[in-house]
Amino acid sequence: MKMSKLAIIGLGHVGSAVLAQAMAMNLASEIVCIDINEKVAHGEALDATHATPCTYVPGMKVYSGDFSQCKDADIIICSAGPSILPGEKLDRLILAERNVKVISEIMTEVTKYTKNTPFIMITNPLDVTTYLAATKFGYEKGKLFGTGTTLETLRLKRIVANHYNVDAKDVQGFMLGEHGNSAFPAWSTISIGSVRLADLDKYYDHNCEFDKKAIAQEVVNTAYDVLLSKGWTNTGIAMGACRLARAVIFNERCVTPVSTPLDGEYGLTDVALSLPSIVGANGVEKRLAIDLPEDELKALQFSAESIKTVLRANKL
Ligand code: LAC
Repeated sequence: MKMSKLAIIGLGHVGSAVLAQAMAMNLASEIVCIDINEKVAHGEALDATHATPCTYVPGMKVYSGDFSQCKDADIIICSAGPSILPGEKLDRLILAERNVKVISEIMTEVTKYTKNTPFIMITNPLDVTTYLAATKFGYEKGKLFGTGTTLETLRLKRIVANHYNVDAKDVQGFMLGEHGNSAFPAWSTISIGSVRLADLDKYYDHNCEFDKKAIAQEVVNTAYDVLLSKGWTNTGIAMGACRLARAVIFNERCVTPVSTPLDGEYGLTDVALSLPSIVGANGVEKRLAIDLPEDELKALQFSAESIKTVLRANKL
C-alpha cells in the first residue's frame, strides 16, 4: 500500500464527494480538507474520520488544515468555487468572473508552498480555471491539469454502451474540447471492442437508430438534467477526478482527455482544452494531438474559440 497525502481544496458538494470517493478507493493514507469556511472543512473531515474504521488503509488520517498543508502533499484536487445555481444560464462559462477570482486567490496561496505537486483542477469553467492556474503562477508544466472532458467521455461511454447493450468499459474513444457546451465526440476515435463506429451495427444489437447529433447533444445536456433535478452534479465528477488521481499516485499512465494549455497543437495556443493525454506520476506526461478529420477539427477550433472569448473577457 502506497502512503500518499491528498489535499482537497473546496469541500462543497463536489469536494465532499471527492473525499468520500478517495476514501472508498484507498487513494491516500492522509487526506487534508482545506476550505475558506474552516468550520465546513472541519465538519467534513470529522465526518470522514468516522468512516476510517471501514477503510482498508491502515491508520488513515483525515483532518482539516490550511494551505501550508499543500507543501508535502502528493496530490492536490481543487473543487473550490460556486457552480451554476438553479435559474442561471446553463453554461459553465458564465462562472468565469466569480471563479477566476476564487482560483487566483487559491493559487496565490498554494504556490507559496508548492509549484510542482500534481494538481487536478475541477472548478468551472474548467478550461478557463485550468489555463489561469497552469500559466499565471509559475506552476511546473504538465503538473497542473483539469478533469476536462474525462467526465463527458464517461457520459458518452455510458450512453453508447446503453445503445448497444454492452459494458461501458468496452467503449473506447473520446469527447474532446471544452468541458462544457462545445465539447464534442471525436467520432473518429470511437469503437466498441475494436469494432469501429461505422461497423458497429453489423455486430452489436441496438435499440434505435444511432443518431450521432442527438447523442452528442445528450452527452452535453445530461449534466444539466442532473443539475436541474438535484441542484448540482458531484458523483460523476468525483469519480472522474479520483480516477485521474489514481493514475498519478500509482503512475498508471492512463490515456484520457484532460485539459492543459496547448503548445501549438492544431495551430492552437493561449488556450486550455482537452486532448487525449497520458496521465501518470508527473501529471500530464504527454498530449496526443491525434489526426482528426475536418469536421472534428472544426469542432475543436470552435471549442477553442469559445474558451478564448471568455479568457479574453477576463483579461487572461
Ligand atoms: C459536470 C460539472 C462538473 O459536468 O461541470 O458535471
